[in-house]
Amino acid sequence: MSTHHHRNPTTPLSENKHLLQWVKKMEELCQPDALHWVDGSAEENEALCSEMVAAGTFIKLNPKLWPGCYYARSDASDVARVEDRTYICSLSKDAAGPTNNWVNPFEMRKKLKELFHGSMRGRKMYILAFSMGPVGSPMSQIGVQLTDSPYVVVNMRIMARIGRAVFSEIDKSDKRVVPCLHSVGFPLAPGQKDVPWPCNPEKYIVHFPETREIWSYGSGYGGNALLGKKCFALRIASNMARDEGWLAEHMLILGVEDPHGEKTYVAAAFPSACGKTNFAMLIPPAAFKEKGWKVWAVGDDIAWIRPDDKGRLRAINPEAGLFGVAAGTSMKTNPNAMATLGRNSIFTNVALTPEGGVWWEGMTDEPPAECLDWQGNIWTPKIGKETGAKAAHPNSRFTAPMSQCPVVDKDWEKPEGVPISAIIFGGRRASTMPLVYQAFNWSAGVYIGATMGSETTAAAAGALGKVRRDPMAMLPFCGYHMGDYFNHWITMQKRLSETPRIFHVNWFRKGHDGRFLWPGFRENMRVLKWIVDRARGRALGRETPIGWMPHYEDITWTGMDFSREQFDVLQAFDRSAWRREIIEHEDFFFDLHGRLPKELVFERELLICRM
Ligand code: OXD
Ligand code: MN
Repeated sequence: MSTHHHRNPTTPLSENKHLLQWVKKMEELCQPDALHWVDGSAEENEALCSEMVAAGTFIKLNPKLWPGCYYARSDASDVARVEDRTYICSLSKDAAGPTNNWVNPFEMRKKLKELFHGSMRGRKMYILAFSMGPVGSPMSQIGVQLTDSPYVVVNMRIMARIGRAVFSEIDKSDKRVVPCLHSVGFPLAPGQKDVPWPCNPEKYIVHFPETREIWSYGSGYGGNALLGKKCFALRIASNMARDEGWLAEHMLILGVEDPHGEKTYVAAAFPSACGKTNFAMLIPPAAFKEKGWKVWAVGDDIAWIRPDDKGRLRAINPEAGLFGVAAGTSMKTNPNAMATLGRNSIFTNVALTPEGGVWWEGMTDEPPAECLDWQGNIWTPKIGKETGAKAAHPNSRFTAPMSQCPVVDKDWEKPEGVPISAIIFGGRRASTMPLVYQAFNWSAGVYIGATMGSETTAAAAGALGKVRRDPMAMLPFCGYHMGDYFNHWITMQKRLSETPRIFHVNWFRKGHDGRFLWPGFRENMRVLKWIVDRARGRALGRETPIGWMPHYEDITWTGMDFSREQFDVLQAFDRSAWRREIIEHEDFFFDLHGRLPKELVFERELLICRM
């Protein structure tokens, strides 16, 4: 039955005229040695992985410990998304807005054509069709990524639905296909030896929103190179969503099952590396588990949310895998993630142990006696202590299939998505923000999302630990003017018969002693329960100037020792801190002023009045 076992990969897998023409044009531009139409099969995947092992890009991990897993080290200069090299090249600068880098699209195209000219010499060009969302779902979108990176192909095979099924979808549906061109920008002269992680110091991650195109040059890492993820599912999709009346958001999706077996789905936006993956797979504390509370994961990073014909919001996870931050992931912080990544996964920039396994800071209490760090140097706990060198890069990642998650929701691939009853915004804030509060209504909730702040993390290149405004966790991912985006959120309400309740959480508030006030992790279930209870109209709240807060009694404390006094400190509304906070909101809004919806101006006024 294996007719495609020994197929010729240069034979096109699609008959779509436009696709074939575009591939030909891009082949002429990039001048690869050969084409490879990616069928997505296990045989093909194995062959690609073996080739990468031979080339030194991959190390096969010990199959007894890590079956089906591979290890990669990136170039030391190519370790995170490069926001300052990321462009939204809309026709007008104003359409991209002040929070995006913009270059005139005609100029940019000229520049890109120069860069891509001959950029794939000495390499193969893979033609990778992918579906964001289950193949054939009315909420899904299709892209084709041309790439000279086999590393990208095998990662995309985990992160999206790829291959034959998607090519047939292209051939039979009239859905618009998003063309994505990607090159690591490291052509090889005849006879030139390749390096394990080819990339180029000059990087361009470029989006053309009107023509729905993505051009990515110079990087092989994560969101820069796996174009289905941030580039398509957020930056381009946010443009589609605005035009078509839906939302493309940087949100996890989870389902809370209560003791009656009733499920309530919530979506939550936290900035990069703030614990979305952990929250999506939360294991409730024993006292909750005994009663029958469970949390099911639908997605950990991106949600496409759309009103159904009854006016209720429904969401899909457009991705098929997790591209999670490895550092800090452990049996304590996220046992479900640990189970998910135990096989058929790819590890990038973690440490390699002598027995052919992986390790990263926080994975175990005891570090290995010796290992190779993410750059291939010998690392011991002593070296770590003396030099401060980390064994794993802080933005080291695992790529793992969502289907392997022990708590994956049974409806996670349902074509029509799951109903969303609550939306949670959150950030990493040492001060000011209480553990949880609820917005008074939709527009107040949009204001909370629009003014979200968080301390910066290692997910993007740049300074760490500064509070930056990251509205809806979309600052690096909104593919158009942030003011228009807020307006789109405001107007969504008119399409809905039932608006989800909106909440803000902060697991990271610190006391005067600099220690976290809240233990986080599974105890977050207590907050989630209040949120679900509120969304279902079964819990009380207390009105405060910023929104509804739980009374101490409204939270279920069984099995946790947390006093009323501690809770009061954690929930404290600090008037002078909020005064500064609101001034910072205004500062952030300043540049958006021309396109800021008046609802947000009024919300800010109301907030000041209540204070
Ligand atoms: C991610 C990010 O990789 O947000 O998900 O940076
Ligand atoms: Mn993310």
